[in-house]
Amino acid sequence: MKIGVIMGGISTEREVSLQTGQGMVRHLDRSRYEVVPIVIDQREDLITKVQQSGIDLALLALHGQFGEDGTVQGALETLGIPYTGSGVLASSLCMNKELSKTLLAAGGVPTPEGLSWKGMNEYDPQAVERLGYPVIVKPNTGGSSIGIQLVHNERELQSAVEEACDLDGTILIERYIKGTEITCSIVDGEALPIIGIRSAHSEWFDYKAKYEDGGAEEKVIELPAAVEQRVREAALASYQLLQCSVYARVDMILCGDMPYVLEVNTLPGMTANSLLPKSAAAAGLTFSGLLDRIIEISLR
Ligand code: DAL
Ligand code: MG
Repeated sequence: MKIGVIMGGISTEREVSLQTGQGMVRHLDRSRYEVVPIVIDQREDLITKVQQSGIDLALLALHGQFGEDGTVQGALETLGIPYTGSGVLASSLCMNKELSKTLLAAGGVPTPEGLSWKGMNEYDPQAVERLGYPVIVKPNTGGSSIGIQLVHNERELQSAVEEACDLDGTILIERYIKGTEITCSIVDGEALPIIGIRSAHSEWFDYKAKYEDGGAEEKVIELPAAVEQRVREAALASYQLLQCSVYARVDMILCGDMPYVLEVNTLPGMTANSLLPKSAAAAGLTFSGLLDRIIEISLR
């Protein structure tokens, strides 16, 4: 079978995507697949490059806009080329944090209280005051924590909001939940071991903590059975409410024994050091085995 690893793209997460793509290319089992790395440099590349490659399946290593948000999935559907991961609807829903939170809350999944505005003109600092500091300011459709800031007071708020607005038409401001950052990956509707994250130099799991060597300690976390159950249920409920399929990674903050879901990533990072391969390894699944599973389920 000829597998095209689609990576790069034009979002702010391009560099991370290239690393994900390289991780996948390195770990695909060559006795089973012919592997074609396909680097996307501009939007128009996708259709031409995919059509010329003659691949049987697109293994998606893209992150962020025009990759993880349903657009590429829609193009591949139109071309009739199978691809890995969630479909168009789940991909676009999960890319939109504000809409995801609305659906999660409606489905009874706890998520941090938040407010959103379409740009600087709408934004209301007084409402943020009512939410209570500290808050987290996010570009609504961002990834890898790019443009996200932890804001402790009104003085810090303005520049954080401006930065988020530069990246996105919608800004999301959430109450900061103090607790342990955890993540639960799902493969084929089953939760993998939960990973706890401890950032080495920052108050939260920011871009540096995510991608710099030694930026964070990430390991399987031991939780009381009832709490572990609650985390798994929250992750699975989020995956189902947002219509995900094949695999996803649900990011949460555990405050006491209550998990608050921050977001669901439909194309989570897949470098050798990423959270999903780590969690799969703890369940006895190698990176290559994980890719086999993802390919097999996506082709079902
Ligand atoms: N958005 C990054 C790649 C992640 O969720 O892992
Ligand atoms: Mg994300």
